[in-house]
Amino acid sequence: MNKVGLVGWRGMVGSVLMQRMVEEGDFAHIDPVYFSTSAAGGKPPAFGGKQASLPLQDASNIDMLKQMDIVITCQGGDYTKSVYPQLRAAGWKGHWIDAASALRMEDNAVIILDPVNMNVIKDSLVKGGRDWIGGNCTVSLMLMGLGGLFQNDLVEWVSAMTYQAASGAGAQNMRELLAQMGALHDAVKTELADPASAILDIDRKVAATMRSGDFPVKNFRGTALAGSLIPWIDVPVDNGQSKEEWKGGAECNKILGRPAFRSPGSIPIDGLCVRIGAMRCHSQGLTIKLRKDVPLDEVSDIIAKANDWVKVVPNEREISERELTPAAVTGTLTVPVGRLHKMAMGPEYLGAFTVGDQLLWGAAEPLRRMLRILLD
Ligand code: HSE
Repeated sequence: MNKVGLVGWRGMVGSVLMQRMVEEGDFAHIDPVYFSTSAAGGKPPAFGGKQASLPLQDASNIDMLKQMDIVITCQGGDYTKSVYPQLRAAGWKGHWIDAASALRMEDNAVIILDPVNMNVIKDSLVKGGRDWIGGNCTVSLMLMGLGGLFQNDLVEWVSAMTYQAASGAGAQNMRELLAQMGALHDAVKTELADPASAILDIDRKVAATMRSGDFPVKNFRGTALAGSLIPWIDVPVDNGQSKEEWKGGAECNKILGRPAFRSPGSIPIDGLCVRIGAMRCHSQGLTIKLRKDVPLDEVSDIIAKANDWVKVVPNEREISERELTPAAVTGTLTVPVGRLHKMAMGPEYLGAFTVGDQLLWGAAEPLRRMLRILLD
């Protein structure tokens, strides 16, 4: 049985990964070895009812990592940057499955999203590929939704306007969003309980609260998210883009096995990435320039048939309000795509809206599926 080293299994993405691996019975197929950056020697967990044979191992112990057939890490980019080169330099030939972005754009790494790019994964396996990296959540969720259009080579370009959840920024940000919501409510609790109070007085108090020095904003770099939004995600890069926006083009093309972003044959993908007050679902409003005028019912069909998780939501008000929202999708693997309509710019311009759980298809799920592909 393959020895699988698990690193970063206690964090938010790691915990979702463990939960999904338990649900899918993955532990029955592996010999798990749990690594820790802080508690080596301690008692390992027993996910899936399987007791690990070794105590917790030191996550920086290259000799022990070298004994693994497969390592899966959700420990983050700093860990990858420090440990991965040492492990390869020590001659390790095992498979490295990683949630962090550190290795994503390396030539020998495949960005894994098998319902969309199984062909790219298989090609790399045949050539001896050993580095399997999870994609950026927004990118993976867009491709889970629109994969059919890309697979049929119908997309000339895409503009993505995102509505990204607090979870993408981290567990502490989710907590801070809720603390902000609570602080706003606390500030106007008395007035809210009085139906005769004036809404503009309430609004003034809310605005004063979110601008006050006491408002909990440490994790959001000093900015209110509750009752507001943040139109910038990650560090600036070139061309006025944020890194999150750059990833849209760079990673999508790599996932699809197309030429590098901005080079001939690549698909231009760009937009604006915005943080909103959702918990763990990223949403995206998309403008898609099709290569030709494809009838809308064909477009729906192509999107719906691309994988088992995408679901086309009819472009009607009630069902969109019910099913095309973070509240409906959170905690599920379903990726609804709706608001499909031809836009005023012309018959090749398609409007769409999609929602997906940032911690599932956006992070943990592609990793455990890659593990199963390697084990099969
Ligand atoms: N960078 C994403 C975000 C999450 O900030 O929402 C990780 O893919």
